[in-house]
Amino acid sequence: MVHGGAALRGTVRLSGAKNSALKLMAAGLLTDEPVELSAVPRIADVPVMADVLRGLGARIDLDVEAETCRVHAVDEPSSEAPADAVTRIRASISCLGPLVGRTRRARLPLPGGDRIGARTIDLHLRGLRAMGAEVTEDPGVVEVLAPDLHGASITLDFPSVGATENLVMAAVLARGSTHLDNAAREPEIQDLCRMLVAMGATIDGIGSPTLDIEGVEALRGVSWQTCPDRIEAGTYAVAAALTGGHVRIERVRPADLTLPLLKLRAAGVEVIEEPDALEVRAGELGAVDVVTLPYPGFPTDLQPQLMVLLSQAAGTSRCTENVFESRFSFVHELVRMGADVVVDGHHAMIRGPAPLHGAELTGLDVRAGAAGTLAGLVAAGRTVVRDVHHVDRGYADFVPRLVALGADVVRVAAADLDA
Ligand code: UD1
Repeated sequence: MVHGGAALRGTVRLSGAKNSALKLMAAGLLTDEPVELSAVPRIADVPVMADVLRGLGARIDLDVEAETCRVHAVDEPSSEAPADAVTRIRASISCLGPLVGRTRRARLPLPGGDRIGARTIDLHLRGLRAMGAEVTEDPGVVEVLAPDLHGASITLDFPSVGATENLVMAAVLARGSTHLDNAAREPEIQDLCRMLVAMGATIDGIGSPTLDIEGVEALRGVSWQTCPDRIEAGTYAVAAALTGGHVRIERVRPADLTLPLLKLRAAGVEVIEEPDALEVRAGELGAVDVVTLPYPGFPTDLQPQLMVLLSQAAGTSRCTENVFESRFSFVHELVRMGADVVVDGHHAMIRGPAPLHGAELTGLDVRAGAAGTLAGLVAAGRTVVRDVHHVDRGYADFVPRLVALGADVVRVAAADLDA
């Protein structure tokens, strides 16, 4: 429950990246030695991923307070993943590559997660087939058999984050070399590739759209610190700018946020970059145009938050969503709060500034839930964001961190709200 009006001020120290930590955990399946991860964010998807890995036979030691997770797949993992946990998070699909790499087979129920578009896995499967795997898709389950997993030359139709990760994790233990073109190069993928190299993998081209991987016999254990969460950083930066505030954000790599920071500055926000921190100070907000694209393009995971900011900026902004077709479903909620946004296919036109008023928001995904909360920070009256378990999937300590910055936000049990 949010009451708008407060300008956010102070310092917030952030977590390791959701989209890295979950994949690093899955990569623990690739070796019989322990993988010790630090800066593992306190988000709800982490214990679910831990359950998936336990279900596959790995020993997991997760210390939520210390933000550490040790994955030890000492015995060969079972190739059959537990359906209940897998269907709860999208990231469980990242067990596919490691299982195929280590055990040459996998049977996975198809994953859950946010409903923000088609989110198929055809590119993952096409790549594995090129590497010699036999893939069968029954309704709701995918089965992969690859007794002779070998390198291949693969060009992805689209630089998919998930497909790149899975193919890399299969290729590091495949026979021979794999050439992966049009690969995704998100900072989280670079983090994964660098950890794999520290485990003994051979990967060239990290950070570029072309990866060359030479399969090895076995990988060893490693201690690894998860990279910072650029989406979380971007969310707090928007919150500061939106509320007329001034916030210092720590544990960030500004270089991972080049385009979001460029757009914030173009919208009139003052941003000071330090090696591992950002200082964000609000200014007179003006319209900007933004197009979501795979990294280094503007991240789709920051689009709903930016849209809230643009609803408060003077002038007409245009936003084009190219990654997930249903990401604009959040716009309806924002319009109900008073925003002036018109959607035409994957384009949105935002006219601002439009005063927002509180509303009840529901059925939001992780990013839309965060964006709805931000909208509440500048709305008149009371905003209720329902189903905040979605936000918990991607943001550690979201409410306490906002409160520490001066926001009027409380977490209320649904039953108490309705009473
Ligand atoms: C990951 C992130 C998600 C982020 C997204 C884009 C996780 C758990 N999720 O999702 O937060 O928003 O990257 O940065 O890490 N596609 C296909 N076929 C495929 C694979 C993808 O058509 O086999 C399409 C998807 O439908 C979508 C686009 O490609 O339109 C992007 O998908 P992808 O990059 O794979 O995103 P995810 O890995 O699902």
